[in-house]
Amino acid sequence: MLTAANIRKTFGGLVAIDGVDLEIGRGEIVGLIGPNGAGKTTLFNTITGMLEPEEGTDITFNGEDLVSLETHEIARTGLLRTFQIVRVFDEMTVFENAVAGAMFGTEESISREQAEERAREVLAFVGLEDKSEMKAGSLPIAQQKQLELARTVASDPDLVLLDEIASGLTPGEIEELSDTIRRLRDDRGISVFWIEHIMDAIMGTADRIIVLKSGQKIAEGTPEDIRNNKAVTEAYLGADDA
Ligand SMILES: Nc1ncnc2c1ncn2[C@@H]1O[C@H](COP(=O)(O)OP(=O)(O)O)[C@@H](O)[C@H]1O
Ligand SMILES: [Mg+2]
Repeated sequence: MLTAANIRKTFGGLVAIDGVDLEIGRGEIVGLIGPNGAGKTTLFNTITGMLEPEEGTDITFNGEDLVSLETHEIARTGLLRTFQIVRVFDEMTVFENAVAGAMFGTEESISREQAEERAREVLAFVGLEDKSEMKAGSLPIAQQKQLELARTVASDPDLVLLDEIASGLTPGEIEELSDTIRRLRDDRGISVFWIEHIMDAIMGTADRIIVLKSGQKIAEGTPEDIRNNKAVTEAYLGADDA
């Protein structure tokens, strides 16, 4: 589904992504972990067209070359993301946020009624239906994250990229979110590529985990493999935020 070869991104003299290859298959939940500054968010920014990669980078999604596309064109191919710092429309209601997601969707055209119908459905999916008329900015952060996810799902994506969606949540909220992410895949067939700092959340949910350190992929495997990988343990021990 998503295939990337030799992703490279530099900022001046800093090599933030240093030749990463990866693949995400249909129906997979893939985790992306690594110490702070490893390049995880930069990798998402590069895949989604928010940053232009270096020459030689090859990224295709559903057979389309993403490197030559703009962010909004990439969204139309069915690849959407959420942000590390949550981005909802604060002054709009929860419902209007979800409607906006549906209108912005990957389908060619959708009527206002269809968008509202879909908004109701995705809000129920993430458990926010009784918050519909509240201003998004007045929700606690955990629910803003659920809303950002709902808005993304309302756009009917094939693949979502989630950037630290569980950080700042209580263990109970993380459990609920992990369940929602599993249902994204199981009930809706949406693939997930998920950056997370909270190991328990990602280890218990992902089928496969990719580990970045200093812009390079240092390991890839099942959660079990990654837990027992010496290079990974050392990468975290050596990091100042481990
Ligand atoms: N827009 C930018 N300009 C310059 N340097 C950046 C920019 N974005 C990220 N970096 C640098 O790239 C490296 C990787 O950052 P980032 O992708 O945010 O890491 P992570 O998400 O893994 O914590 C860091 O050294 C960071 O300071
Ligand atoms: Mg980051």
